[in-house]
Amino acid sequence: MQKEITMLDVHKIREDFPILKRKVNGKPLVYFDNAATSQTPQVVIDTIVDYYSNYNANIHRGVHTLSQEATDAYEIARKTIQKHFNAQHAHEIILTSGTTHSINIVATGFTNFLSKGDEVIVSALEHHSNIVPWQMLCERTGAILKVIPMNEDGELLMDAYDHLLGDSTKLVFTNHISNALGTINPIEEIIEKAHSVGAAVLIDGAQSCPHVKPDVQALGADFYVASAHKLCGPTGVGLLYGKEEWLNKLPPYQGGGEMIDQVTFEKTTYAGLPHKFEAGTPNICGGIAFGAALDYMNSIGFDAIAAYENELLEYGTRKLLEIEGLKIYGTSKNKTSVISFNLENIHPYDIGTIVDKLGIAVRTGHHCAQPIMDFYKIPGTIRASFSFYNTKEEIDALVEAVKKAKMMLS
Ligand code: ALA
Repeated sequence: MQKEITMLDVHKIREDFPILKRKVNGKPLVYFDNAATSQTPQVVIDTIVDYYSNYNANIHRGVHTLSQEATDAYEIARKTIQKHFNAQHAHEIILTSGTTHSINIVATGFTNFLSKGDEVIVSALEHHSNIVPWQMLCERTGAILKVIPMNEDGELLMDAYDHLLGDSTKLVFTNHISNALGTINPIEEIIEKAHSVGAAVLIDGAQSCPHVKPDVQALGADFYVASAHKLCGPTGVGLLYGKEEWLNKLPPYQGGGEMIDQVTFEKTTYAGLPHKFEAGTPNICGGIAFGAALDYMNSIGFDAIAAYENELLEYGTRKLLEIEGLKIYGTSKNKTSVISFNLENIHPYDIGTIVDKLGIAVRTGHHCAQPIMDFYKIPGTIRASFSFYNTKEEIDALVEAVKKAKMMLS
């Protein structure tokens, strides 16, 4: 019998999340849409309330006490994020509105660095946010977009990647973990091979950060991006990590206050890092709460989180596959706690609607990853994504709900 890993006290952890006590359609909420956004623990909610109750002010601008307190808290959060991602310098952490914003800063910044015929590589497993900005970059520059293909299990074909790489390759973009399937991509190998041909690499860590603690220096990625709201933090804030040399080379993304050194009508000079990329008033409270969320997750520990979520993945996969006619998409051995599935030829929205009536939140549709759905020739899937505050009892409730939906719809 497989050994149960009980390093994490899920019932105690659930007490930290007020939303988990609510009911939906008269049933206890079962929240399985964690890959879209995670829930928020009380300590992060308290941080937000404390900010607006006690020291709401603009940062880096005033000598008054509130402004200094807000500035200090914001910069402490940046240091917490730096430590969590193991960046060499705090100024390599740019606070953005989220992963999409972070990717667009880099994609726009590369406009002057690419020429017609240069090649950029993405993976077949990308979210639209790690496809479209690069397509737009290619349109602006005449560069060519190439795609690392995938197999039926939802894994990248690394031999094909070897063949795509060459002297013309300038950039490689891949997610660490697929949002639609949960596949963990071999990013160490992807980065090493890209660097061997002199290409820069951006890793989209939006889906990996909730499950693993990345070490950007050990990985050697040139850029690493993620969002706080998948990590028990608020929406509207995320990070762009970039190696100092790259961030110094890239031009600013937006002009405005705070990103300048000197402004005259003749010429403006820009501030140093990180401010060069942080024009305008940032999401101050969001940044501070992002730091609090990382502190919270680290207090639980990412090893314990990963071990527990793997247990949920194994249990959920086994239980769901007991339902006749259910097919799981994304069957790599290297995956996180995401189960994307369909049931016979029933439309995913119909199942999603019925399980919602039973209090269960899953995502249905193409998950902003239409090329993956095209690969499988399906319109979409039902996606259950588990977090460390979910339980096996909740998975049992999902299984019963899917069985009920099947009875009603077949
Ligand atoms: N990218 C998020 C998801 O996969 C929104 O649901």
